[in-house]
Amino acid sequence: MSTLKHFIEGLPKAELHLHIEGSLEPEQMFLFAQRNKIDLPYKSVEDIRAAYEFTELQDFLDIYYQGMGVLQTEQDFYDLTWAYLEKVHAQNVIHVEIFFDPQGHTDRGIPFSTVINGIYNALIEGEKTLGISFKLIMSFLRHLSEEEGFKTLEEALPHKDKIAAVGLDSSELGHPPSKFERLYARCREEGFLSVAHAGEEGPPEYVIEALDLLKVDRLDHGNRSLEDSDLTARLSQSGIALTVCPLSNFKLAGVTDMRRHPIKTMLDKGLKATVNSDDPAYFGGYMNENYLAISEALNLSKEDLITLCRNGFEATFCTPEQRRQHLDQLENYLST
Ligand code: ADE
Ligand code: ZN
Repeated sequence: MSTLKHFIEGLPKAELHLHIEGSLEPEQMFLFAQRNKIDLPYKSVEDIRAAYEFTELQDFLDIYYQGMGVLQTEQDFYDLTWAYLEKVHAQNVIHVEIFFDPQGHTDRGIPFSTVINGIYNALIEGEKTLGISFKLIMSFLRHLSEEEGFKTLEEALPHKDKIAAVGLDSSELGHPPSKFERLYARCREEGFLSVAHAGEEGPPEYVIEALDLLKVDRLDHGNRSLEDSDLTARLSQSGIALTVCPLSNFKLAGVTDMRRHPIKTMLDKGLKATVNSDDPAYFGGYMNENYLAISEALNLSKEDLITLCRNGFEATFCTPEQRRQHLDQLENYLST
């Protein structure tokens, strides 16, 4: 196992499902709270960690939205993003496609430009000095209205050049993709690619809606697709990628035993599954920890791990030329 651990650590990787606000570590939460003079309902880092006991998605979301309240200034968003980049750089992540939740900030009175400029400037610096290429994905909160989504899109348009794609996250049950069909159509007209969380807690029908109504280019999670054999066959034939988040699935109770995590079944059924961390500060691990968890629990072979890793690079929103460069880095690693 230790050689496989070593192999995983050295693999050049792409992360395609990461909420930047979900990379806020308890230590940083304290730091930002202090410098922004915000009172936290926790006395210590241990107190915060103890609160991270979730039985379902909403338990986590309540704490996640509360946590991001410490982010106030452009410097905060820059520092948060920079800390994430340094961590994944140490894990040999060479490309990231990260989400941000603007409505989680603008609803608290933080200007859209403060949020996006802080994150984007850190990503630019990361590309220059750490060699990590990136795409930024603006996510709509699905528990909010269609109208609020349109308002956020208007705020985003002056920053269009910084945003590659739009996404849909937050409380899934009761907020099906169909609620945002018109918003996604408008986003498509504006030239954005799109993804959506679907089938994390929601039924296979939500995945079908994400495909048929939102016309997504990639699916986030998608786990519950496996309950529908026609949908599974469709996903396999279409080659659309799924951004799977193993430790997140475990923490949010979709998967109660990692030995029953569906990612191996996904591969066996021909689905283009990828490995990602979702909200690493809340779920106990970044990219390597996610790869390691499934590798151990599911007894994955080196070939399985390479397939997952290659899927990640093939599923990016990069140009064919960039994608070739990423895959070359992977091939170089495998041939040494
Ligand atoms: N926002 C941050 N993480 C999320 C997740 N796993 N599901 C839905 N919304 C989220
Ligand atoms: Zn997510």
